[in-house]
Amino acid sequence: MNENTKNIDLTRRKLLASAAAGGIALTTGAHGAGAAGNPENLPPNIPDWSRALGEGVDARPYGTPSEFEKEAVRRHVRWLTASTESSVNFTPLHELEGIITPNGLCFERHHAGIAEIDPADHRLMINGLVDKPLIFTMEDLKRFPRTNRLYFLECAANSGMEWRGAQLNGCQFTHGMVHCVMYTGIPLKYILEEAGLKTNAKWLMPEGGDASGMNRSLPIEKALDDCLVAYKMNGEALRPEQGYPLRLVVPGWEGNMWVKWLRRIEVGDMPWHAREETSKYTDLMENGKARRFTWEMDCKSVITNPSPQAPITHGKGHTILSGLAWSGRGTVDRVDVTTDGGKNWHAARIDGPQLPKALHRFYYEFDWDGSPLLLQSRAVDSTGYAQPTKDQLRAVRGTNSIYHNNGIQTWHVQSSGEIENVEIS
Ligand code: MTE
Ligand code: CO
Repeated sequence: MNENTKNIDLTRRKLLASAAAGGIALTTGAHGAGAAGNPENLPPNIPDWSRALGEGVDARPYGTPSEFEKEAVRRHVRWLTASTESSVNFTPLHELEGIITPNGLCFERHHAGIAEIDPADHRLMINGLVDKPLIFTMEDLKRFPRTNRLYFLECAANSGMEWRGAQLNGCQFTHGMVHCVMYTGIPLKYILEEAGLKTNAKWLMPEGGDASGMNRSLPIEKALDDCLVAYKMNGEALRPEQGYPLRLVVPGWEGNMWVKWLRRIEVGDMPWHAREETSKYTDLMENGKARRFTWEMDCKSVITNPSPQAPITHGKGHTILSGLAWSGRGTVDRVDVTTDGGKNWHAARIDGPQLPKALHRFYYEFDWDGSPLLLQSRAVDSTGYAQPTKDQLRAVRGTNSIYHNNGIQTWHVQSSGEIENVEIS
């Protein structure tokens, strides 16, 4: 018997016990209950926390989550990368609700570790095909008109391991290279207008101030459309992990282009063919040719609960399925869910704001009869594009790829409530 089934047994026993005691069907959830809790704190007793004063307002100048929420943390997979400085950790999607990712839980992807930058020493330089090259301080930038926008950021490598089959047990690991944040920043257009674009200005090369000096070629149309130079996330300053004090926001496009610790934007008339767009972040097709500049993140979805890290612990009966959907091309207009591996599909309920290029939350409620399930979700975006199966993707892309896997994910729910990552065809 493993940990999960043990929990389920305890929970069931607890349910029977509380029903017998009071005849009230109070449920005992995975966190709440307290299979290991202190019965002295349960009704009709007065619990510990009602008997003494709590901490004062000076105890937590910067708030942190409850000590009972230790599972909601970013995690990394040691064997995936050689070092922690050039690596990735993953957002715990199964611990989150709604569409906003808390700042401390946004996945991190660094190529050369986290640059720690004193904003007083930080500059943004604009040079190349402009009328007047400029260097801005952070103070200068904060005097441009600002805007607030909610966008998801997905690494092109999200779900990359899954090209070769079901691998990692948990949506945190298969889909956790995505976060969704409210950015405050300056439309990049305003900064470019200030410098004055020459008529032959066609491409930009944003460059990072970290040791990797990460750079990507960005077409001018996108830069003038909806890109931001952001300095706040979810209301507070960017976190060092997310590029403090300044990052580029490239809505709907692969995360690699969202240059962190942004220090320079060069304006040119051709793409730079930088390392990150030649040897990396290209899609190697079956015939050995690499597809380049696949910037947009296609429509995708995943069921976050239940999922391998969040098994069903309440036994059969009313079950809430929760998930996330997104599209780099607009809004998500529809999500369908199946519990039998695609034989029958049911419309899920999209709940909360449906904003373009942001995460969407969906729910589907059903009565679980305790038999094994094959859970899948399939999203359709505002362009009418429907999320493909992994087989459909492989038919076009082959199996050489790492990036841009937006295939339908399957979770296998066993009668015990335990869940594993599987693939069906
Ligand atoms: N910018 C710089 N300067 N250095 C980096 O290593 N990583 C890129 C991008 N911007 C990176 C960077 C990649 S691959 C991704 S997916 C996103 O930042 C990750 O952003 P996050 O760490 O805020 O999740
Ligand atoms: Co990335």
